Amino acid sequence: MFAGLALTAVLAFASCGSDSSTEFSAAGERGRRLATDLGCAGCHGGDGRDATIGPDWTGSWGTEIELDDGSTTTFDAVYVERSVRSPDAQRRAGDWIRMPEYRADQLSDDELADIVVYLEELG
Ligand code: HEC
Repeated sequence: MFAGLALTAVLAFASCGSDSSTEFSAAGERGRRLATDLGCAGCHGGDGRDATIGPDWTGSWGTEIELDDGSTTTFDAVYVERSVRSPDAQRRAGDWIRMPEYRADQLSDDELADIVVYLEELG
């Protein structure tokens, strides 16, 4: 019986470990959790896809984004940081509601860096 319990524990641990390490780095995994805890996922989709209110994140990294002033920009770390800290500075073209602004007391620079890693790893 003890052997059975130990085996169950090992299996549970092994599947846990492979889930997070195959998909995301440690920072990316922190970013994924933050996106859920802070409510980003509520608008942008639980896994960065099937978003309800904001754009999907999956498939965005490195692509050209059209802004509502007619210019384009690349979806990269700078763009993501600006989208979160001062979303009014660069709205996406199209019929979106406004992305809420997150100040440093709601989301620290370190946490934002983790979210950037998460979005990059989503691809
Ligand atoms: C109330 C819904 C809502 C929440 C919550 C929200 N967003 Fe957004 N987000 C939007 C909308 C709508 C847009 C598109 C309009 C715009 O560019 O302002 C957007 C745009 C973005 C963009 C630019 C995406 C693109 O494809 O151009 C990024 C990056 C982003 N959000 C990140 C975040 C992060 C990170 C959080 C959490 C800290 C978050 N958002 C929370 C609604 C939301």
